[in-house]
Amino acid sequence: MNKHDKIPNKGINTRLAHSGHDPQSYHGFVNPPVVHASTVLFADAATMESRKSKYTYGTHGTPTTDALAAAIDELEGSAGTIILPSGLAAVSVPFLAVLSAGDHVLVVDSVYGPTRRFCDDMLCRYGIEATYYNPMIGAEIEQLIRPNTKLVHTEAPGSNTFEMQDIPAITEVGHGHGALVSMDNTWATPLYFKPLDHGVDLSIHAATKYPAGHSDILLGTVSANEATWPALHAANSMLGMCGSPDDSYMTLRGLRTMGVRLERHQQSALQIARALEGRPGVAKVLHPALESFPGHDLWKRDFCGSSGIFSIVLDVADAERHGAKAHAFLDALTIFGLGYSWGGYESLCVHANLSDRTVALPPKEGPVIRLQIGLEDSEDLLVDIENALAAANAA
Ligand SMILES: Cc1ncc(COP(=O)(O)O)c(C=O)c1O
Repeated sequence: MNKHDKIPNKGINTRLAHSGHDPQSYHGFVNPPVVHASTVLFADAATMESRKSKYTYGTHGTPTTDALAAAIDELEGSAGTIILPSGLAAVSVPFLAVLSAGDHVLVVDSVYGPTRRFCDDMLCRYGIEATYYNPMIGAEIEQLIRPNTKLVHTEAPGSNTFEMQDIPAITEVGHGHGALVSMDNTWATPLYFKPLDHGVDLSIHAATKYPAGHSDILLGTVSANEATWPALHAANSMLGMCGSPDDSYMTLRGLRTMGVRLERHQQSALQIARALEGRPGVAKVLHPALESFPGHDLWKRDFCGSSGIFSIVLDVADAERHGAKAHAFLDALTIFGLGYSWGGYESLCVHANLSDRTVALPPKEGPVIRLQIGLEDSEDLLVDIENALAAANAA
């Protein structure tokens, strides 16, 4: 047993610091090499014919992408992980891997918006039908399952409104009817929720967010259990999708500090969320770790932490004024940037667009403002938010 093999039993930050790459496998260098590759040369014709060498072509993996995939497998407890060029690709590839024409997929209504567009446009064109379900449905999802339902896609907490889902109940029902279950687990990362331990077959991550952590990389990962890995692996090879060596390297580098960054994101976000609860101008705070949040019990039962993104609902009775008040809030911010994505070191804010919802309808109390709490000093962030609330109030 080498030093590397002993890592799985250690604490999470020890594992994050050492998983994926064994320094002794590459001259003792602490970090893996960044291998830029298409062609791999074979030693002789027989090896070329049998393809029995470890590496065969750049799209099928390199020492750099393997190091990242091994680290993610270690965190997820998965049989295999594929690396993709974005988080959105990490959603679309597993769908393509397990669905065929004539199949039906159940998708949570609070899903990441572009996932819905992929289902409603591309999957629909390929003869696959999607039905959107209430995130709080739990075991009652059984009523929506059809004989041709092959996949139940979950995302918890939901995008922008953070509804929790009863993942163990959904996986039990789905599996009972022969359907696989996928989960977009980007919010929690495998540090705060391990989907495969709760019965999920395919765990999806926009590694763009917390693993990369610095708003300079797009990358996605999908990790599968033993039974689902062959289909996922085959689809990925057929589609020719692969993460670049530089971005894979940087994401592995990001993983090394993800535990300590997440602790800070968690602490600051909770502190700010609590300070905003009940504050004039704020109708609701949508954060699963708050006792007041409707899905809090599920979060407490299944998750072991919360990350740095949540929403507030501004208290704006007049629906006609939602847009103007939200814009006044956003325009008054000086530390928070106005931009998409999250999980980076810096704070961001967005006025959430929930117009595509069909079941989990937008709150009536006012516009939803999503806050990504970065690594800045939380006191400064709170002052920025309070100024923005005052500006929204005055608008
Ligand atoms: C929950 C969730 N999943 C997937 C993605 C897609 O990630 P990417 O931006 O890397 O395509 C995002 C991006 O915001 C997201 O919020």
